[in-house]
Amino acid sequence: MKVTIIGAGYVGLVTSACLADIGNDVVCLDIDVNKIEFLNAGGVPIYEPGLQALLLANRQAGRLRFTSEADLAIAHGDLVFIATSTPEGEDGHADLKNVLAAAQSIGARMTGFTVVVTKSTVPVGTAEKVHVLLDDALHARGFATAHAGREEKGQPTFSVVSNPEFLKEGAAVADFMRPDRIVIGTTPDAAGVRALALMRQLYAPFNRHHERTLCMDLRSAEFTKYAANAMLATRISLMNELANLADKVGVDIERVRQGIGADPRIGFGFLYAGTGYGGSCFPKDVQALIRTADDCGQTLKVLQAVQETNHAQKSILLEKIEAYFGSELQGRTFAMWGLAFKPNTDDMREAPSRVLIRALIERGVRVQLHDPVAMEQAQQVLALDLADIADGAQRVSFYPQALNALNGADALVIMTEWTAYRSPDFAAIKQGLRHPIIFDGRNVYDPEVVGEAGLQYEGVGRRCALVHDKKELNI
Ligand SMILES: NC(=O)c1ccc[n+]([C@@H]2O[C@H](COP(=O)([O-])OP(=O)(O)OC[C@H]3O[C@@H](n4cnc5c(N)ncnc54)[C@H](O)[C@@H]3O)[C@@H](O)[C@H]2O)c1
Repeated sequence: MKVTIIGAGYVGLVTSACLADIGNDVVCLDIDVNKIEFLNAGGVPIYEPGLQALLLANRQAGRLRFTSEADLAIAHGDLVFIATSTPEGEDGHADLKNVLAAAQSIGARMTGFTVVVTKSTVPVGTAEKVHVLLDDALHARGFATAHAGREEKGQPTFSVVSNPEFLKEGAAVADFMRPDRIVIGTTPDAAGVRALALMRQLYAPFNRHHERTLCMDLRSAEFTKYAANAMLATRISLMNELANLADKVGVDIERVRQGIGADPRIGFGFLYAGTGYGGSCFPKDVQALIRTADDCGQTLKVLQAVQETNHAQKSILLEKIEAYFGSELQGRTFAMWGLAFKPNTDDMREAPSRVLIRALIERGVRVQLHDPVAMEQAQQVLALDLADIADGAQRVSFYPQALNALNGADALVIMTEWTAYRSPDFAAIKQGLRHPIIFDGRNVYDPEVVGEAGLQYEGVGRRCALVHDKKELNI
């Protein structure tokens, strides 16, 4: 099928590569001319396992093209996906300007029958806004307003479909190729029925094992995406609150995680305590859902608490560092392993590491950083994050080798659970540090193993594993 994807970001690139890989003829459009040039020169602007090989193979096979020419791209696709960013707006609502600009661009150029698919995460009612924009654009081109389902000779017609994306960064290609579910929201009119048939045809190769498609109305599809992220964010914040309590009452949250995860009603996924969630989705999507509810006169109390807990959790390691070293940290140096908001990505958007780095720099500390893939991105975002702190950026250094980042550091801080950090040479860590302590923000290590190596250990919700005299606890 002929498919156009608007937006060559994490979602747009993965969607383009995967749809091309199953045999579709895909054109991917982005307004960022440099990004398109880079892609056309064989570069891959993001790190995502498996993506580079897919892009290369499908470009070589002639099934995938990149362009910044809207005319070419919109003329190409019978299905046109909008996968542009929807960042948090100033008032906390999702900022729809990129989605609406893409819709306008489609409306100004579409011919024949076009299925316009919103893949970006967008608030309830956005597909209807896109429909109005497309209608207006056709009107401006001198066509009669295209009522859904009506097709006259030479009259472009369209149907707007909501097809939210559930892929996880770090496993995006695998998630897209083997989705848990494919949510498709359509209108109940004739154009919607036609659009649904095309969407089913497009996704049929992903349904060979069993049917994964869930068909629903537009608004329910849009809401499903927010509800999913709200649920996942809630699990993380609840687990973090329990972990903080575990620290106070002498409980190992890792044991508890396994104890509750074994219950099939709960399950093991998304139950890790740590330094809070980040990334380009949960923070803005939780906030946008809260704003949607505000608009309807409803307060989402649970989600407000989720957000508050997450905000506080990003400082949990700072509290532990100050508890150990005292609040006067000036002149100290900390090594940090892991900068990306989670493993297997270079995405630094809302990464908890940024909050801790800034807090440490504000306190006069030096930081020595390592990440297997996110150092380039980190360099860019930290330059901006620390721009208002005199000599802030000078107190940040990057190390290509994780162990080298330890040299002369007072302590090691773990912020991302990359597999490369899972089984380190603890003796070398001890040798490199001035104080033998690891602050493990992702509970990667077994406190006993770390202890046996002569290192002290501070995880999140794991004090019981270390405190043998229970009088030290607050109970
Ligand atoms: N990143 C994820 O893990 C993920 C997962 C599921 C859903 N989503 C949602 O998907 C959407 C895209 O997210 P992302 O992370 O891929 O964003 P991104 O910032 O990585 O990429 C967005 C791309 O869109 C381009 N763009 C913006 N306006 C444009 C326009 N008018 N025409 C053409 N290109 C335009 C930008 O230049 C950029 O390359 C968001 O709504 C996000 O919430 C993201």
